Amino acid sequence: MTDRLSPVDRIVFALDLPTLDEAVRYVNLLRNHVGVFKIGLELFCACGPAVVHAVNERSKGAGVFLDLKFHDIPATVRGAIRSASALKARFITVHCDEGRGLLKAAVEGSASGTRVLGVTVLTSLSREDFTDAGIDASRFSEPADLVMHRARLARLAGCAGVVCSGLEVGAVKKEFGPDFLTVTPGIRSAGEDKGDQKRTVTPYEAVYNGADYIVVGRPIRNAPDPVKAADSIAGEIERALRDREGKGV
Ligand code: C5P
Repeated sequence: MTDRLSPVDRIVFALDLPTLDEAVRYVNLLRNHVGVFKIGLELFCACGPAVVHAVNERSKGAGVFLDLKFHDIPATVRGAIRSASALKARFITVHCDEGRGLLKAAVEGSASGTRVLGVTVLTSLSREDFTDAGIDASRFSEPADLVMHRARLARLAGCAGVVCSGLEVGAVKKEFGPDFLTVTPGIRSAGEDKGDQKRTVTPYEAVYNGADYIVVGRPIRNAPDPVKAADSIAGEIERALRDREGKGV
């Protein structure tokens, strides 16, 4: 159950940065203001496993989310997840679009304490990208249909939850219940630059719709005062949790 997570616990800050020094600087700055630090492809390719240890050491108990979005044959992914689990990551991601065999292999490779999340449909994708991505638009008319299809596969394979946009979180929670985790990137405040993200929601909307965790990168990293930006997001999350409770959601 994630009911007891505080607003700060629910913020995953994306360390999308090119060097260990910069990552450490943000960890020192934000460790009391966010709950999880996400290490993605840019930082991991630059620094390797050392960055996971460095962040775990300095983060004062905030967990590490190793977002390498594995996508390969099942045996390779099983091994990669085994290696990644040994780094003591709290969350690891794997793409859902190769089906259940790959997701099952990922779960089999994970150690206890590491939760495997299935990436359903990237938040940078919209319906207009379906043809390019080879997605059958007559079967999946909206990203939400594909998200639900992939979330079912992730659930059947034993994943702890999924990564999806805040637009689909409510449907995922409705079908799979409160214990199946929903982690939501594509977070933007009203009027904020979306960059490459398309299926965006505000921090309030994501949590009000049922997201357990929200992933935020540029809106905190590029803010003039990242601590203030994180605190303001925590305030929005608090309001969303209160409103959900008030409505008995
Ligand atoms: O800067 P921004 O807040 O858009 O960063 C979003 C982060 O979430 C990035 O690190 C990106 O890799 C990640 N992510 C995403 N969409 C997904 C899964 C992860 O944007 N479906």
